[in-house]
Amino acid sequence: MTRVATLTIDGKTIEVPILKGKCGPDVLDVHALYQETGLFTYDPGFTSTASCSSGITYIDGDEGILLHRGYAIEDLVEKCDFLEVAYLLLYGELPDGSQRESFEQSISRHTMVHEQLRTFFQGFRRDAHPMAIMVGVVGALSAFYHDSLDIYDAQQREIASHRLIAKMPTIAAMAYNYSRGCPLPYPQNGLTYSQNFLRMMFAIPAETYQINPIIARAMDIIFILHADHEQNASTSTVRLAGSSQANPFACIASGIAALWGPAHGGANEAVLTMFGKIGTKQNIPEFIERAKNKNDPFRLMGFGHRVYKNYDPRARIMRKACYEVLGQLNINDPLLEVALELERIALEDPYFIEKKLYPNVDFYSGIIFKALEIPTSMFTVIFSVARTVGWVAQWNEMMADPAQKIGRPRQLYTGYEARKLPKK
Ligand code: ACO
Repeated sequence: MTRVATLTIDGKTIEVPILKGKCGPDVLDVHALYQETGLFTYDPGFTSTASCSSGITYIDGDEGILLHRGYAIEDLVEKCDFLEVAYLLLYGELPDGSQRESFEQSISRHTMVHEQLRTFFQGFRRDAHPMAIMVGVVGALSAFYHDSLDIYDAQQREIASHRLIAKMPTIAAMAYNYSRGCPLPYPQNGLTYSQNFLRMMFAIPAETYQINPIIARAMDIIFILHADHEQNASTSTVRLAGSSQANPFACIASGIAALWGPAHGGANEAVLTMFGKIGTKQNIPEFIERAKNKNDPFRLMGFGHRVYKNYDPRARIMRKACYEVLGQLNINDPLLEVALELERIALEDPYFIEKKLYPNVDFYSGIIFKALEIPTSMFTVIFSVARTVGWVAQWNEMMADPAQKIGRPRQLYTGYEARKLPKK
């Protein structure tokens, strides 16, 4: 039997159904509220609002748990590679041998971009931020792949999804090589997803590029950890854009734009800049004080999360990977010392304890990126490559839902009432 809550407004009582999910908080189904009461709900920043139902990713923020299709992120990182996780997110189950083979084949067959798309890069300044290039070039894919724009055709949706997953590393590596004045790379389909990306990023035609398996595995872990995270700002942006029946390439471009901000995916870049500014362990207390000062806009980047009120499980994996990668590559980075000490001091500080502020995925990722010689401006780009899988999985889930309708929030209007134009 459906549980209901009762709501009494101006003497009139209505029943609000309470919907039950598989895990996590139940939700009040307020979709009929306006019709029944003439009232909207008000929830800036969606702090108490479920914007959709989804069966892809589950986060228990209090316990610090992250599941994709029911599987713990820790297990996926240990036992799977990125394309297996991508398949899981897209299709709901891990692939068997032949499913894996045909998925890999399809992704590798779509890694190249239309030759004309390469000319787009010339329109950007060499010092353009690569995220600016990503927003533009990924959006422009809509102009090249007309045979996968019919969003009501499941097969076209699937092809568009594979194209996006396959082409993102190519476009990202092209953006990087454009900025450093190197030839724009072509993919090599005999390599794994992560190996291919690394080769496109760093190989130059004049030399042979040796793929370091430690670096390739670290890249794969980074991709897995960023693959999906339920209804975060960029995923919600993709869903909202998709709800207007926009094409998938345009939707993913909108997700990239939303990801760019430092409160979201741009935080990984901001974290490393912050570590650099802190410089040495001695300066940490000054930055902690600044983060606590309400009159100072400075925040401890890589700390805090809307959903996690416990250690972000991805940060824990990243922290461990950081140790391993730096150890295996024989790198002694003083920034890791700064990060560990900053984390220790913050986690013992009453301000961070009371507000339940813990390191998030971005806190340690920059240090690994640095060890892999990935420039800071590419951090968020790599996040966008990985998150494309989550975006397309969530977009496909929404498009296949017969109850799907355009997302159109309402507002609490605080402007002028109707008034006459002044006389001229
Ligand atoms: N440093 C200092 N204080 C913080 C921090 C921080 N990093 N994060 C939150 N707080 C404080 C806020 O000032 C606020 O204090 P108040 O209640 O006294 O006003 C309280 O903690 C709650 O913070 P909100 O901003 O209201 O929480 P919200 O859920 O809206 O924001 C966010 C979450 C944006 C991630 C925030 O913690 C933040 O800005 N962190 C730094 C940026 C960052 O690392 N972003 C990456 C997030 S993970 C990702 O997107 C991949």
